[in-house]
Amino acid sequence: MSINLHGRSVLTLDDLSPDEIRFLLRLAADLKQAKLAGTEQPRLSRKNIALIFEKDSTRTRSGFEVAAYDQGAHVTYIGPSGSHIGHKETMKDTARVLGRIYDAIEYRGFAQSSVEDLAKFAGVPVYNGLTNEAHPTQVLADFMTMREFTHKHLSDMVMAFVGDGRDNVALSLATGAAKVGMDFRVVSPRELWPAPDVIENLAAEARKNGGVFSIGEHIRPGVLRADFVYTDVWLSMGEDEAAWPDRIRLLSPYCVTTDVMTATENPYAKFMHCLPAFHDRNTDVGARIFQRFGLDCMEVTDEVFESKTSIVFDQAENRMHTIKALLVATMGG
Ligand code: CP
Ligand code: NVA
Repeated sequence: MSINLHGRSVLTLDDLSPDEIRFLLRLAADLKQAKLAGTEQPRLSRKNIALIFEKDSTRTRSGFEVAAYDQGAHVTYIGPSGSHIGHKETMKDTARVLGRIYDAIEYRGFAQSSVEDLAKFAGVPVYNGLTNEAHPTQVLADFMTMREFTHKHLSDMVMAFVGDGRDNVALSLATGAAKVGMDFRVVSPRELWPAPDVIENLAAEARKNGGVFSIGEHIRPGVLRADFVYTDVWLSMGEDEAAWPDRIRLLSPYCVTTDVMTATENPYAKFMHCLPAFHDRNTDVGARIFQRFGLDCMEVTDEVFESKTSIVFDQAENRMHTIKALLVATMGG
């Protein structure tokens, strides 16, 4: 089957078919290999990409910038201040301006409707670099990394997401997993489950593609025989800090410890995290949480984070390779 992603936007993983996801992962692996071998060919010469970041970023910004430079493209970083976006100019007007100047636009921000407006009115490919609802480019990197660490096809893998079951990363992983037919489990307190219709849709999509989507509150059955245990922060960017006490009360039992990894009963199980992670007290937020709540870590212990099972920095590197595949596939000659 021939795959053509030219001109396409990716706002959620629902914008890609299972074959298109697999195509992007193969292209990312080829591009990674070519970069390592010093044989990479630039396919984005004279392209210009706008990178809008209304929220902070280390990996996504670096991934887009280096992917673009490696392929001969240029980028403009538009941060949370310094442009008219939001306070003086709507997303619809911004889209019509940037679409005249740039060949593609990346957007990281708050509402999914903002990235949808950009895609609707820009007339060039738009990539979601994270919204409150979705983080699709993260999941492409995660799937690439999973393939590097097992001999299994994506459809034969078992993944357990432990933590805030309705955050952007959990939902995008679930969407991607359902597309490729994975056995994907969310392990989360009921208060943090996605809405019932979201759960039903994920389960139906997984069934259609030969996979399973399940959700539960109990860690042991949830992680049993998992190849990958994934977690994310307990409070996402843009959420009200006043929620910390409640979130910590709900999620403390879901910290990924060595016992959780052992409960997979899979000696090859790997730990994953999109990063940044609160695995110690050595950040401003980590120190504040320790002072207020006496926690040394939150979603993962330092022991698991620093263990041989942890593949978090492979995920981080693969952000760049998979973003590059997306840019090449949607804009390349
Ligand atoms: N995982 C991820 O999106 O990282 P950044 O927030 O650093 O971009
Ligand atoms: N759920 C996190 C992911 C960060 C990459 C957030 O939105 O802050």
